[in-house]
Amino acid sequence: MSKKVIKNGRIVTASDDYIADIMIEGEIVKMIGLNIDAGGDVEVIDASAMLVMPGGVDVHTHLEAEIGPAKTVDTFESGTMAAAFGGTTTVVDYAQQPHGDSVIAGMDDWLGRAANACVDVAAHMIITTFNDQTLVDMKTILQRDGVTSFKMFMAMPGVMMIDDAELYRIMRMTGENGGLSNIHAENGLLIDTLIKEAVAQGRNEILNHPRVHPSITEGEAAHRAIQIAKLAEAPIYIVHVSSQEAVRHIAEARYDGTPVFAETCPHYLFLTEAEYDKPNDEAAKYTMIPPLRSQEHQDALWRGLAGDDLQVVATDHCPFCLTEDSWGLKHSKALGKESFAQMPNGAPGIETRLPLMYDGGVARGRMSLNRYVQLMATGPAKLFGLFPRKGTIAVGSDADIVIFDPNETWTIKAAEHHSRVDYSLFEDRQVTGRVKKVFLRGEMIVDGAEWLGHSGGGHYIPRGQSGQM
Ligand code: URP
Ligand code: ZN
Ligand code: ZN
Repeated sequence: MSKKVIKNGRIVTASDDYIADIMIEGEIVKMIGLNIDAGGDVEVIDASAMLVMPGGVDVHTHLEAEIGPAKTVDTFESGTMAAAFGGTTTVVDYAQQPHGDSVIAGMDDWLGRAANACVDVAAHMIITTFNDQTLVDMKTILQRDGVTSFKMFMAMPGVMMIDDAELYRIMRMTGENGGLSNIHAENGLLIDTLIKEAVAQGRNEILNHPRVHPSITEGEAAHRAIQIAKLAEAPIYIVHVSSQEAVRHIAEARYDGTPVFAETCPHYLFLTEAEYDKPNDEAAKYTMIPPLRSQEHQDALWRGLAGDDLQVVATDHCPFCLTEDSWGLKHSKALGKESFAQMPNGAPGIETRLPLMYDGGVARGRMSLNRYVQLMATGPAKLFGLFPRKGTIAVGSDADIVIFDPNETWTIKAAEHHSRVDYSLFEDRQVTGRVKKVFLRGEMIVDGAEWLGHSGGGHYIPRGQSGQM
């Protein structure tokens, strides 16, 4: 069995911070100690002056995903290679029940494609059509495949939306079986009406996108989802929170002891709705749901992270190219040329989560290093049934390790990314802190700019129970 020692690094977990050596044997961390005698036949990696942290766990991506008329441009191979370069070694991606078809078919299809992943992968399942068989099939994949979380949309009527009664039944079954209900909290019927109004009035420019997704529609849906979860006596997880109203409802429920968990994303923490005032071609990069909001909302999200009202920062990596026909995929952001209402919603981010959050969170003094590791790896791993195999550096855990230079300052450029998408939300942004080396179950897969991993190098990880931290 191969042995490696990572020497003299500053090991940071969600609770600890110390300088020591890590001995890796095969795929796991075998020993952590001072001055470990490497002996012969052992590869030594010097991590002096570096942070040594658990590989990132990104629990919100859409790889090779059909969303409305469009398909995301990253394959499991390209998306997970990009994740690795960004310091993420486990991705929990969204599999999807094809509309009107079976949950099992959606899962089997996802498992086939995910076999090409370069980092470890697990799945949530998006429920798009509800009937009695849906509940049966959900239970099957929960038990058979370790898919212990399901996403339901309160938005997009006729395409994705699950109504309140259906939500109640799904939450109840999921909670009773050790699973977690992930909720896209936006009031779909109201938003659809606002979109139709805007289009009827000829308001087709992208600056209308945030106007038809006002924060009140997110707050209302978050509040409603929490009430339904209380009735169902089940835990819920609200994804991609962007508004102060939603944060308030989540905080209030948590204060009362209700098991509500929530995530936000880097784009909501670093960008504002001012991006939509740019010319349409540029503004198209930022169409996602919920939309970017004002500084006031952004400040509420940072407070939510500081106070543990929000427990996870995930990317919602949902990449559509700006250029039509790139990679042979017809349906890019260009679909929305005539009207924002036709634009595929979603944006990339899988490769920049760790550096952006280090720079904007730790280097800017907004959070401690331990909190950073909690948000990037430990929290999501615990909540989604991956801990302690993933999300920490401990004896017996998978040797998923990032060696990170906290002092290197560099500039984000889409052209240097490994994702297939043709833009970055953060082009030309200078950040401090850079991923230098990445280990996946003991194998070095990233060494500076060099790619050492391979398609199929990632394993599928059936998860344990979700919904506890
Ligand atoms: O705009 C977004 N977020 N697209 C991805 C699908 C979703 O709702 O997460
Ligand atoms: Zn969503
Ligand atoms: Zn998403």
